[in-house]
Amino acid sequence: MKVLVLFAHPALHKSYVNKVLIEEMNVIDGVTFHDLYELYPEFDIDVSHEQDLLSQHDCIVFHHPLFWYSTPALLKEWQDLVLQHDWAFGSKGNALKGKLFFNVVTVGGPRKAYQKGEFHNHSINELLSPLTQTAALCKMTALPPFVVHGTHAIEDKEIQQYKNQYFRLLELLATKNVDVNKVTSYKYLNDYLKELEG
Ligand SMILES: Cc1cc2nc3c(=O)[nH]c(=O)nc-3n(C[C@H](O)[C@H](O)[C@H](O)COP(=O)(O)O)c2cc1C
Repeated sequence: MKVLVLFAHPALHKSYVNKVLIEEMNVIDGVTFHDLYELYPEFDIDVSHEQDLLSQHDCIVFHHPLFWYSTPALLKEWQDLVLQHDWAFGSKGNALKGKLFFNVVTVGGPRKAYQKGEFHNHSINELLSPLTQTAALCKMTALPPFVVHGTHAIEDKEIQQYKNQYFRLLELLATKNVDVNKVTSYKYLNDYLKELEG
């Protein structure tokens, strides 16, 4: 299985977490790392190139920091331009049909703050629903997100643990060793991986 990681971070030079998470990702067999802000700093997205890339992969990952409970602006622009009617969705839009989709998201707030009645009053899964529903409209299968919480107060050791988990996930996907039906019953992919680790 070929995995495409669409990465969106507008200020990687200021990043503490993501810059570690993405290091050497291209070394993983079957994984293509695609840095959108590096390629399109002026938002001049090459739509046909992006569509070709999508067609060549089986699993599409949106990897980004959570910005205002959503994606950085370029990833929204990417969706608006690339996911065209009768290509990605609509009666003739089958280009993405059957592919897997999930988010990898780094989040300032801790996990316990992302639930009803707590500081952010919504779960990450609820907040990402425009993206998972977009995937569904494009006939893809949405998996739960992989979430790095508490980035405001995270230690280097924890980032490394998340990175190890994330790379393991990518390797499992690339070698088709993920039980998709089982995975969809978890809230986060992190929880599935933790269980695998025992
Ligand atoms: C413009 C902006 C908006 C943000 N919005 C949120 C938010 O809605 N919820 C949250 O928990 N953190 C929010 N954050 C914190 C980022 O998610 C956090 O800084 C990022 O994931 C850390 O990753 P990095 O070290 O790679 O930059 C925001 C940060 C910025 C700069």
